[in-house]
Amino acid sequence: MSSQVVVGTQWGDEGKGKIVDVLAENADMVVRFQGGDNAGHTVIVNGKKHVLHLLPSGVLHEDGLCIIGPGVVCNPFVLLEEMSQLEKSGLSTQHIIVSDRAHILMPYHCYQDELEEAAASNKIGTTKKGIGPCYSDKYARHGIRFHELKDFEHFKKRVAECLEFKNKLFVNVYNAKPMDEKKIIEDFEKIYSKIVPMIKETTSIVNDAIDEGKTVLFEGAQACMLDINYGTYPYVTSSSPTSAGVTEGAGIAPSKIDKVVGVVKAYSTRVGEGPFVTELEDEQGQWIRDHGHEFGATTGRPRRCGWLDLVVVKHANMLNGLTDIVLTKIDVLTGLDTIKVCVGYDIDGKVVDHVPSDQAEVGRARPVYKEFPGWKEDITKIEKKEDLPKECLDYIEFIEQYTKVPVSLISVGPDRVNNIYVNEIK
Ligand code: IMP
Repeated sequence: MSSQVVVGTQWGDEGKGKIVDVLAENADMVVRFQGGDNAGHTVIVNGKKHVLHLLPSGVLHEDGLCIIGPGVVCNPFVLLEEMSQLEKSGLSTQHIIVSDRAHILMPYHCYQDELEEAAASNKIGTTKKGIGPCYSDKYARHGIRFHELKDFEHFKKRVAECLEFKNKLFVNVYNAKPMDEKKIIEDFEKIYSKIVPMIKETTSIVNDAIDEGKTVLFEGAQACMLDINYGTYPYVTSSSPTSAGVTEGAGIAPSKIDKVVGVVKAYSTRVGEGPFVTELEDEQGQWIRDHGHEFGATTGRPRRCGWLDLVVVKHANMLNGLTDIVLTKIDVLTGLDTIKVCVGYDIDGKVVDHVPSDQAEVGRARPVYKEFPGWKEDITKIEKKEDLPKECLDYIEFIEQYTKVPVSLISVGPDRVNNIYVNEIK
């Protein structure tokens, strides 16, 4: 039996998609458990680039079932658009199902996200995909779930009552135009027959699979520092992209998780607002951005770049209980004379090695760095760990020592084949 969770340990964009793609090869099922189409995974298979937002990267393995779990906020229009893109590339989408408990991300959620961001004095820098508004409705208990779509007359009534309230908000608070109910219903009428057959009670499907000893892969989107509880609140997303989030968002007991794989990028990036202790707002940061192609897959925004922050990775380990680290994009650092790693935060003269909950404190934190000599050799074709340059090995060893988690896989390039397997994750 093996149920594996893959989570991001930083601010997202660690390269989870590529690793899931590798692990999904042996999985009977891939499950997304939180977030929505705010995610962006770029997966390269046989030189062809696939950018996915809502569908998990594991969808590319058509042999297993691909599940949009109960904890996801799912925009059905985006779902169908991504499926159609995959179909155009000759891939099957027959194996995709959506939880009847998942919330429907409605067109008015996207509109609300845009209006809220435009009006906010303290902007979060959201992806404007409606994630926050949809989760707010869910927890305020007036969200619409997928099972409600099955009875279209009922669904229409629900849309009417929700939109009546939303339009008051749009017009009276944001001084914006109301949304047209008729247009929303017409759009749903067009996709109804495609979506309804995909709606299933997924929680027992997932639990039965685990009980039958099948391999189930839970694919996290975003990452620990964007967690609604433990990230840099309020500059976070509205879900829990942690191993704990799996239990809630997929409906399985914590005792059913065997492996928690934390994906660590060899440096740090973040998109959107919020404190970022190791940020490099200089040529060095630009160098990393250029070499790492650090531009958002969802919004195209240039990502903020900085040195690896092990205080953050330690925080992620504490919350997720990592059994393995997958280290990604280490090849991007090739060519640097010196590489820095943050091992502590100096806050008002006191050095700490944990992430404070008060963002004002994080904002004042000055990074305490350990420096490593860089390497110049191209490492992208290397297949065995021992063939890596000594400087690179020292860097990896230090990550293991600091976090006390083994680095089980090292990704040294963008393609599926550019991986060094160190320990068996399966
Ligand atoms: P939202 O999830 O669209 O509400 O955005 C909230 C914050 O999370 C913003 O700073 C976004 O840039 C960030 N965010 C959301 N999804 C991702 C992701 O997949 N990668 C990186 N950052 C993300």
